[in-house]
Amino acid sequence: MERVTLGESGFQVSPVAFGTWQLSPRFWGKQSREDAIAAMQLAYDRGINFFDTAEAYGDGEAEKVLGEGIRDLPRQDLVIVTKVFNHFNPDGSRYPDLSPGHIAARCDLSLGRLGLETIDLYLLHMYDPLTPLADIAGALERLREQGKIRAYGVSNHNAEQCRAQRRFGQYAVVQPPYSLIDPAGETDLLPYCQAENLGVMIYSPMHKGLLTGKYTGTESFDDFRGNHPDFHGERFRDLCARVQSLKPMADGYGLTIYQLVLTATLMHPAIHAAICGIKTPDQIAEAAGVLGKTLSREDYFAVRNAVGPGSSKVADTRGSRK
Ligand SMILES: NC(=O)c1ccc[n+]([C@@H]2O[C@H](COP(=O)([O-])OP(=O)(O)OC[C@H]3O[C@@H](n4cnc5c(N)ncnc54)[C@H](OP(=O)(O)O)[C@@H]3O)[C@@H](O)[C@H]2O)c1
Repeated sequence: MERVTLGESGFQVSPVAFGTWQLSPRFWGKQSREDAIAAMQLAYDRGINFFDTAEAYGDGEAEKVLGEGIRDLPRQDLVIVTKVFNHFNPDGSRYPDLSPGHIAARCDLSLGRLGLETIDLYLLHMYDPLTPLADIAGALERLREQGKIRAYGVSNHNAEQCRAQRRFGQYAVVQPPYSLIDPAGETDLLPYCQAENLGVMIYSPMHKGLLTGKYTGTESFDDFRGNHPDFHGERFRDLCARVQSLKPMADGYGLTIYQLVLTATLMHPAIHAAICGIKTPDQIAEAAGVLGKTLSREDYFAVRNAVGPGSSKVADTRGSRK
């Protein structure tokens, strides 16, 4: 089984991680629980031991489904990640709350939904501007002392926010957005992580499906992508054509376009793992097919040139990342 060390956290993880955001109907519409559970079990059979969720995904639903999906898998082999951030109101609205009492209470709820005694990696889902950083770190350290979490980290923080958090606590892992269409983290966050030996698990490696190679540019979306600037009009058509242009190279490697792009993404030395958003067993089987694969240096840069920033003549009006 291919395993990498997730930076200073020391976890041994598969470079492909299983992402469960797809179980959030607010973003992705209704998904099949059965397909998700079958995909989780197939993931393990195909060498994947790294699973990502958050209590925000479907307001706890994704954690419950993941708990069910991994129930019969060997616990000691798995690395389970969940995240905390929101205060949830009964009417469905939310606001940030990383105050110590709230973190402690939400952790207990996540453990219950996952059916676990310990969360391997507990992440701050976003940056809370209101809670003093020392208070947040203190709450996470208490959870670690109590054995409720093994390690902690941050998501959606820039390099300066990470640096500030690490002044107060042992944040060992970061989870930023990153794709070859939008590799913005390379400017400062990824070099910072390399210098500090932080574990890096990137999210949205397929740019929410756009890099999978299955779109022609004629599709329309009834999920959150319907409002995303990269999934509309001329820019969408242009990006789809650029992704399709990778087919001959993918064929040459015996890979699909999805696998070619994911292989290239994982070659970045700062990136330990990519969290792939999964709805069905077929999707995780395709993702798992990249384990052990690599490209030549020349082809790596050819993939970047085909789909990366500056490749498209159509303006990047990116504003909504999620
Ligand atoms: N920390 C954060 O704030 C944050 C934010 C976002 C995501 N995440 C995590 O990262 C994970 C991945 O992010 P993402 O969902 O944006 O991921 P992604 O991997 O960029 O895109 C996932 C989408 O691609 C399509 N797809 C997946 N496998 C495919 C395959 N083999 N062939 C064709 N299409 C395929 C599916 O959509 P269709 O089938 O509908 O096209 C799927 O929903 C999430 O599940 C979540 O765990 C974290």
